[in-house]
Amino acid sequence: MPRTDIIATMQADIERVLISRRQIAARVGELADQISGRYAQYPEGLVIVSVLAGAMVFLADLIRHLPLRMRIALVGFSSYPGPATEAGDLTCVCPLDIDVERRHVLVVDDILDTGRTLRRVVSDLRRMKPASVRTCVLLRKPGKTEGDFEPDFVGFDIEDVFVVGYGLDYDDQYRNWPDLVVLKPELYGASPAACDRAS
Ligand code: XMP
Repeated sequence: MPRTDIIATMQADIERVLISRRQIAARVGELADQISGRYAQYPEGLVIVSVLAGAMVFLADLIRHLPLRMRIALVGFSSYPGPATEAGDLTCVCPLDIDVERRHVLVVDDILDTGRTLRRVVSDLRRMKPASVRTCVLLRKPGKTEGDFEPDFVGFDIEDVFVVGYGLDYDDQYRNWPDLVVLKPELYGASPAACDRAS
């Protein structure tokens, strides 16, 4: 199938654009300025811990705007087994492989929904005695987060819809779409829970 046809088929899956690539780029720059201001006082730099795989596109853009010394480490959890969008139990599938003791750590994630993932990452990190732990999320769904978890840096507050694109997936697809979008509800046919969240 020609390249333009493939793009057209992906485009046809999209119900609406929630946040455009231009809006994302502008906001990532602003977030980077905030983060640089906060960490400029640490000449030793920071450790960025990012959560696979949804944060990878955001991470790649963000770090290139940060004029700071940094090490980068990745952690991975499986919370959405198979083609579903309901959070299950968190299983660590890629443990942290870096020493963060006495280091300043910034956790970067794609989206704060219930907060279970970030809470788990932060609590695992705190046991490793870092100098500080802060969190940065591209997206937050206000009203969904359990408890009183407050990220230090937030890109956008969004409504409670299931979003894909810019690293976020449905059934491991759409991560490469440059905008943050909402898919057509009929695509979630095999997963009624996703339909609820997308409506
Ligand atoms: P929690 O509930 O732990 O969720 O804060 C964080 C993780 O859940 C995934 N997630 C989403 N993924 N569209 C997605 O593609 C969404 O709307 C969505 N909401 C939550 C995501 O992996 C995130 O790191």
